[in-house]
Amino acid sequence: MKIGLVGCGNISSIYLENLTNVFPNTSFYACADLDAEKAKNAAEKYNIPHIMTFEEMLECPDIDVILNLTTPQGHYPLSKQALLKGKHVYVEKPLALTYAQGKELIEIAQSKGLYVGCAPDTFLGAGIQTCSQLIKDGKIGKPIAATAFMMCHGHESWHPDPEFYYDFGGGPLFDMGPYYITALVRLLGRAKSVMAYGAKGFEKRTITSMPKNGQEIEVKVDTHIAGLIRFENGAIATLIMSFDVWKHSMPNIEIYGTTGSLKVPDPNGFGGPVLLATSENTEYSEMPLISPYSENERGIGLSETVHAFEEKRVNNASGALALHVLEIMESIVKSAEQGKEITLESTPSQEVPLDWNVKIGDIKTK
Ligand SMILES: NC(=O)c1ccc[n+]([C@@H]2O[C@H](COP(=O)([O-])OP(=O)(O)OC[C@H]3O[C@@H](n4cnc5c(N)ncnc54)[C@H](O)[C@@H]3O)[C@@H](O)[C@H]2O)c1
Repeated sequence: MKIGLVGCGNISSIYLENLTNVFPNTSFYACADLDAEKAKNAAEKYNIPHIMTFEEMLECPDIDVILNLTTPQGHYPLSKQALLKGKHVYVEKPLALTYAQGKELIEIAQSKGLYVGCAPDTFLGAGIQTCSQLIKDGKIGKPIAATAFMMCHGHESWHPDPEFYYDFGGGPLFDMGPYYITALVRLLGRAKSVMAYGAKGFEKRTITSMPKNGQEIEVKVDTHIAGLIRFENGAIATLIMSFDVWKHSMPNIEIYGTTGSLKVPDPNGFGGPVLLATSENTEYSEMPLISPYSENERGIGLSETVHAFEEKRVNNASGALALHVLEIMESIVKSAEQGKEITLESTPSQEVPLDWNVKIGDIKTK
């Protein structure tokens, strides 16, 4: 499939690298950015044959899929235009700013027989896939509970344009939540309700990265979220997402079952370690990873979506999964505002089992 890339910013380089050099079922046909210099740099570095405007991409018959790597505010409007023009879409997280927008995207895609894929794709990495297999194999018994902690002091110390992290569609929940919540959904299944509290530690943040060092950002979203997610299988996850914490010692994700505990690796990465302790062996032991995808293989979600299109099956990094994650996040915000439990309506797509006994770059169904 030929890709039209829109948004040649910070995250685009790893997609360009991997989809050019690692995954053979895609190639870049054109790239676009509001900043012409960024599009030019990407095209030169990765031999992309065409630099276009986004509007030109939509009219270009040679482009099959739009890879939307713009900031969150651009996810819904650009993806919607692409779908209406008959292009498949793969978009960075979050799928959209609101659940209603996300639902509309999925409905348009379904009505036109198009595919939507959405980041994160890290759950397709060796770490989470190994955890998933261990749970399926009954190694921790029936999952009862989980914890998920992402706490740091925000991204204004390193990102050159960090404003969007404090705008709607940003904040720790919408920025980092997708990694953690997508992993929890893939490990525990559909979520059915949430409850939460939210707080804002700082009304303004000062950028310390270059080139905007010293500039202030107005914080428009809660930057400390404490939530509970109840899953359909009965498990309850405790989730803390924060940009207000300088240091902590909590684990990324842990899953607690009737016969054991699983320490899940950083869901913002692809590798391990995966640690398992059981009622019989209460010390954690490191488990072998079941897949070769343990480095930064961002882009695998798009490659897997293309593979799914070719096999006429549901993709795993699907729009429906991202929509469920978006509903969970939006409902956490609503619950924090309204002080009550929110019941969810969406259902993620069923995960299609993949055979991980492959070489890097290949995708194979079981
Ligand atoms: N930076 C990271 O480490 C990282 C990691 C994972 C995911 N993400 C996600 O990737 C997305 C992009 O993040 P980023 O860090 O690359 O942001 P960025 O600001 O560095 O890049 C976004 C680019 O999109 C362009 N753009 C915005 N609207 C556009 C439009 N209408 N038409 C054409 N170009 C447009 C901007 O000019 C900019 O170059 C975000 O959703 C973010 O959450 C970022």
